Amino acid sequence: MSCKVIAITNQKGGVGKTTTSINLSDALARMDKKVLLIDLDPQASASLSLAMTRYDGKNIFDVLTSDTSILDVIEQPQHSKVQMVVSNIALSTLEIKTIDNPEREFLLDQKLQEVKPYYDYIILDCPPSLGIITINSLYAADSCLIPVQCQFLAIDGLTQLLNTIKIVQKKKKFNNKNIYIEGILLTMLDKRVVASWEVVNEIKECFGEKVFKTIINSNVKAQIAPRYGKPVIAFASRSPASKQYKELAKELVKNNG
Ligand SMILES: Nc1ncnc2c1ncn2[C@@H]1O[C@H](COP(=O)(O)OP(=O)(O)OP(=O)(O)O)[C@@H](O)[C@H]1O
Ligand SMILES: [Mg+2]
Repeated sequence: MSCKVIAITNQKGGVGKTTTSINLSDALARMDKKVLLIDLDPQASASLSLAMTRYDGKNIFDVLTSDTSILDVIEQPQHSKVQMVVSNIALSTLEIKTIDNPEREFLLDQKLQEVKPYYDYIILDCPPSLGIITINSLYAADSCLIPVQCQFLAIDGLTQLLNTIKIVQKKKKFNNKNIYIEGILLTMLDKRVVASWEVVNEIKECFGEKVFKTIINSNVKAQIAPRYGKPVIAFASRSPASKQYKELAKELVKNNG
């Protein structure tokens, strides 16, 4: 199988991008897939959630702004078979650092080429914005997975995201590449709340087949696992969130089969 790059993206904050990036990556690795998780958020939530706190070490910012190879910054978290490239706050200066670089939207795409032969999946945890980092991720990705929280205003902002994806798609087609929507993932469903199910139905009506069958419930174990530096499956293997992230990984692999 060739390598597939998936951007986990939604410019809306707190919808479950990082939680999905970590736990989907981990679940795929448990299916013996070779997975590289790249933290592309200056807040470094994914890095911190897997207890990767080596702030002094090189990270994705060095890769994107110097001749540092991505191979030199890959690290191994203790509690997952996933390999990882960490981020730090310096990444927030990428926009200004690269302002004169006409290639600035393709930095990640270029850097990923040399690691692709080693992985089945590369998962990109995007920040909550449609700035230069997300644009880099969309250019580098084959598809994007969009987590949507089962709450009021869930659809708000999705139009901007879909428009941005369309713009990137047009430019990519020019270079014989493509990006498509891997799927919309409903997250943090509170099964007892009627309003949550209304959001589920609304999203399904809008996006039909594009919505993953797997829905991630709101689950305390998923919320607290990062405090222990673990993916939820390593922290509480029998929790609903663990089962659902395993289901999601299976569904994704099947869709790509
Ligand atoms: N299934 C879940 N059940 C309960 N809490 C969850 C679940 N998924 C995520 N959370 C919590 O919701 C908050 C936001 O999740 P997360 O950090 O994954 O979102 P995000 O989209 O990456 O946020 P940001 O836009 O800030 O990067 C976190 O506190 C996280 O622990
Ligand atoms: Mg995040």
